[in-house]
Parts: sequence; C-alpha cells; structure tokens
Amino acid sequence: MLRGPRLLVLGLTAVLLAPVPAGGQVRVASPDGRNVVTVAVLEGRLTYSLARDNHPLILPSRLGIAFQGLVPLRDSLRIEDSSRATHDETWTQPWGEVARVREHYNELATAVREVAAPNRWFTLRVRVFNDGVGFRYELPQQPGLGEFAIQDELTEFALADNPRAWWIPSNRPRMDRSEELFSAAPLSSLDSVQTPLTLELTDGHTCLVIHEANLVDYARMFLAGPRMEGRTLRAALQPMADGIKVRGRTPFVTPWRTIQVADRVEDLAPSVLGLNLNPPNVLPSTAWIKPMKYVGIWWGMHIGAMTWSSGPKHGATTARAKQYIDFAAANGFGGVLVEGWNVGWDGDWIKNRNAFSFTQAYPDYDIAEVVRYAKSKGIRLIVHNETSGGIENYERQLDSAFTLYQSLGVDAIKTGYVTDFVGPGDSHYSQTMVRHYRHVVEEAAKHGITVDVHEPMHDTGERRTYPNMLTREGARGQEYNAWSGDGGNPPEHETILFFTRFLDGPMDFTPGIFDLLERSSGHAHTNEEPRVRSTLAKQLALYVVIYSPLQMAADLPENYAGQPAFQFIRDVAVDWDTTVVLKGRIGDYVIVARRQRDAATWFLGAITDEAARTFDVPLTFLTPGRKYVAEVYADGKGANWRDNPFPVAISKRTVTSRSTLHIAMAPGGGQAVRIRPAGAGDQ
Ligand code: NOJ
Ligand code: CA
Repeated sequence: MLRGPRLLVLGLTAVLLAPVPAGGQVRVASPDGRNVVTVAVLEGRLTYSLARDNHPLILPSRLGIAFQGLVPLRDSLRIEDSSRATHDETWTQPWGEVARVREHYNELATAVREVAAPNRWFTLRVRVFNDGVGFRYELPQQPGLGEFAIQDELTEFALADNPRAWWIPSNRPRMDRSEELFSAAPLSSLDSVQTPLTLELTDGHTCLVIHEANLVDYARMFLAGPRMEGRTLRAALQPMADGIKVRGRTPFVTPWRTIQVADRVEDLAPSVLGLNLNPPNVLPSTAWIKPMKYVGIWWGMHIGAMTWSSGPKHGATTARAKQYIDFAAANGFGGVLVEGWNVGWDGDWIKNRNAFSFTQAYPDYDIAEVVRYAKSKGIRLIVHNETSGGIENYERQLDSAFTLYQSLGVDAIKTGYVTDFVGPGDSHYSQTMVRHYRHVVEEAAKHGITVDVHEPMHDTGERRTYPNMLTREGARGQEYNAWSGDGGNPPEHETILFFTRFLDGPMDFTPGIFDLLERSSGHAHTNEEPRVRSTLAKQLALYVVIYSPLQMAADLPENYAGQPAFQFIRDVAVDWDTTVVLKGRIGDYVIVARRQRDAATWFLGAITDEAARTFDVPLTFLTPGRKYVAEVYADGKGANWRDNPFPVAISKRTVTSRSTLHIAMAPGGGQAVRIRPAGAGDQ
C-alpha cells in the first residue's frame, strides 16, 4: 500500500514522511548529492552502506544491539516506515577554530520492527552532510524493551577498500590512555584501535574518519579490527566493572556513529561533523567564557626542578604564583595555572587518590590571596584538580569545591585522571566515566567555571552544548618530552595528531618550550635523553597548527627572558574566524593559516617531521588589494632538531594576496608567521 508523501515544516527543518519503496530499501543523499547512504534489510538483517560519487566506500554493514538476557535486536527485522527531513542552518560558535558553522544535512529516519517475538522496534536515524555521515539508534519506550543492559553494539563498518589507517591501540600497553604514538598500517591488519580513526584510501586522495558524536550516557566506542584479513571494523564498547557495556531504559538514543569523508587530506580540518551532531548551546550566557593564553606552575614539576608535593622544592607557593601572575600580566596572557596547591600530593599520589582535598591548600599557598592578586592584575587563576581517577572522592567534594572557587571568583579549572584504572575494575572509558566527565562539566557550568581535562574522555563535540568544556589533553602532549622513558615525542608526532586526534576537538598540548635541552631541570640532558625533539621555530608554529582555546606558554618564565622569538607567543591569537589547511601529508608536514576572530590578522604555522622541507605558499587567502606585513619566524641557519635546535631567523616583509611565501623548514623544524594589515608606520 502506498501512502502519499506529507510535508511538515519544523523551524529550519522540513520533514517529509515518505512511504518505503518495495524491496525494503531506502536511500538518502547529502545536499550536494555526492554522499549516498542506503539502508536496507537483507535476509532479515538491517544494513547501511555509503557511496560517494557512485563509488562504494562502506559496503552493506550490519546494525543491531545485543542485550543481556534478550535475543539480540538484529534478526528478523523489517523496515516499516521512513521519514525524511532536510536542515540548513548556520550557527555561530562562542569561540572556536571557525566562527560560523553550516549545519546542512538530509535526514532519513527509518522505523524498523522485529517480525518475530518480542516484536521490538527502533528508529535508525541517518544524517548525511557534504562532509560525512552520522547515524544512531533510537529506542522508543515499548513493552518488549524497558530497562536494559547492553552486552554489545553490533554496528559494523565494512570498508570497500583496504585503506591505510593511522591508529593507536585501545588494548595495549595501557588500556586506559590515549597517550600513545600513532602507527600507520593497512586496515586489514588492525587489531583494536581508538577513534577518531583516520583512513587514507588507496585512490591516493580520499580520506575517511570514523568516530562518534554526542557521547552522553553510553560507553566509549573503540573499533575492533577485522578478522581473517577482512576489511570490516566492529564497534566495541568499553565495559564497566561487571562486564556490562551500557545500562539504560527506553526511551533511549545512542551516540552518533560518524564517518567523515574528504576528497583530500587537507579538507579533513577543520572538522565540524561532530559539532553538528551535538545539540546547540544550553548555557544562558557564554560571554564569560574567554579563550586565552596562560602560563603555569607546571613544567617545573615535569622536568623535576619543582615538586607537586610539599617540601623545599614545592612549586605552588604564594610567592611563585604571584611571580607567574606578574609574568602573565606583563605579556598580555589571560591566565595562570597552579598545580600542586592542594593537600594530597605527598607520597604516592596515584595510590593515595582518596587523600586529595580540593578545598584545602598547602600552608605555603594562600589561594584567596593568589586570586585577589590575580584579579588586581586582570589574570584568571586556573585551579588544578588532579583526581588520580578517584572519582568517588572527587564527586563527594565537587559541590563544596566548586562553591568555594565560585565564591573566590575562580572561573577555570583543569582536571586530571592519572591512573591506569579508575574504580575497582573500571576504566576511563566506560559508561560510568562518560557520566562522570559529563557531570563535572555540567556542575562546573552551574558554578560559572570552564574546564580543561587531562586524561579525558575523547572529544565527541560536547563543546557545542556546553561551551565551558574548553579543551582537553587526550593524546601524548609536551609532557612526554620531559619524562617519557622512550625519549619523548618523535618529530613527526604533531604532523600525525593534526589529521587524527585534532579532528575530534581542541587539545591542550602545551607548546612553547624554548629550553629544548631541558637544562633548567638541573641535570644534563643529551640527544638521547628526554628533551624536546623540535626546533625552536617549530615550537612557535605549534600555536597555529594546534587548535585550543587555552594555549599554554609551557616553559618556565625565565626561559623566555631575552628571547626575541617570544614575541610571536605574545602576539598569536587563540580564537579564530577562519581556518585553512594549505598543505599537508599525514606524518610528514602540515601548513595551516588561521584568521584571528574579529580581526584582519592572519597567522600561519608550518611544521615538518625529521625531514627538511621547502614550500612556496601563495597567500591567496589574504584580502585582495590590501597590504600586509608578514613577520616571519623561520628556522635559522644550520638549525635542526638534533644538534642545533635554537637558531630562529626573524624577518619582516610586505605582502599581498598575490605574494608567495617561501617556507624552508629544518629537520624537526617549522615556521610561524604573523600577517597583519600594514599600518602607517610600515612604509
Ligand atoms: C598529567 C597531566 O597531563 C599533567 O598536565 C599534570 O601536570 C599531571 N598529570 C599531574 O596532574
Ligand atoms: Ca597526561
């Protein structure tokens, strides 16, 4: 029986209820018509597939959910009905990598029912954008499905190709961390990997990224590798201590499973697919949330010159905090982070996680006085909350801590979850922890506090809904260059992160180490020992390459004294109107240009791996007919990360949109450029 289509218009979304064609197969295309998703039932099983320009990218892939104590919701399914919608809206981010985001998609909601008992039903909602696809399961309230426990999500991604995957493991060597070095390998050889998973197709240009969006009350998704040299990845959920993956009750929606698609690697960033699959901002005001640069009582502890714990080398003293505040104010920065200020760091602070107090300061640190002093200088204090994964201890104190911070006028925290396991038998990435991380962000919002999370849940775009969720770590950051037993991050590291981890959201990487050999640690470091495997110019370029609304000038303030290159860190913006990736190759190099929000100034950052590289970059992104001054911070003569990382050549020239910038990068090097409109003084 065929029903005529009906049209419903809801705000910006037009909904069309359509009959299902014979054969139980429905399709939806992206607004530009290039990406097409087909939802079909094959032998009673529901599948989806994705094609671009008529070439298959994802072959018919299984969908379904296995519940504890019930038959899996997978077999004897039938498509009952479907509805279509289209949505086109451009929204403005309070802060971001780009100011405006177009949310333009065609949607297909397919109602599916079991033809056999218990006759459960659900909706598969698919949104197809020009830059990718999201789909999720929606489980309505129904007699056959009330309270439930998910044993497995049965979603698969059957790749048509055997692309090159840039991956980090999800199951070794430490289960609970995203702080791993990336490898590249054919998809067919993967075991168990984290998302976002970036795939380069064998056509030599198309890229796919598999990830998830709007993870609110579910387990984090990993991808289990294909069996028997196949090409099918399976969604794998992180279990809770009792082995259950997700507990819930209907009505219930899962996170979106996302597949970003790009014709060229340069088109992967800035990635907005995940943001577009999160609900809009819920905060009544976002005016108080300010991107900023900051310094911190931090690197000193990592290199061993100071301690978090009390004693003669205690870093967090009132006097030192004031010094750092003076330094931040003198250089136009917005904030100062203080770690090790609170009781609980003495002894093994990972084992003693329940000893952390989030309100009681060490006797040599007067938090009220530090906040007062910071305010008098226009600086915000970022209060550190290391939990060591002791989330019960933290949640017990959350309200009193946030109430104290708010009463003092503190509006920023950095949290931390250093440990391999949280709770008995649980992990960072289970549903318990998804709820915890979310709870902290929501409670912080209620108290007017922004959050920077280290050892976080991976980013699934929650900053759209909660713009106080500013930034997070969630990858190997600069800290690994201070203490890691494997010699730190290799020169190629950030050229990989840019096309993998950075696609899911901002990273608090903490760039800007000038003392690259870490002499301030007090012990001699050599090329083989922990040190920063980068040139100094590359440290500057990272401020443009890495997107984060909080950017740290990570070194000790004294290491910036008398350094002309420090001017770039003073000048560089942290909030962007536009971002353009000019050139890139995963693991080799990347060149990014970004225009400062509400300003005409551009910044360009270029980084390379261990190979020296040169590029000629046309500045066509500049406004035609306008004159600019390019302030260039390049690798100096003879610079290379290994023996001679310090030389930086600073120069100035007039440029227009018709100029070409010659970029020469040393091994492990980079280049940072500020391109500002020329003024009267620039003749
Ligand atoms: C690891 C975090 O990444 C780092 O930023 C912090 O200083 C230490 N944990 C101590 O909390
Ligand atoms: Ca860390």
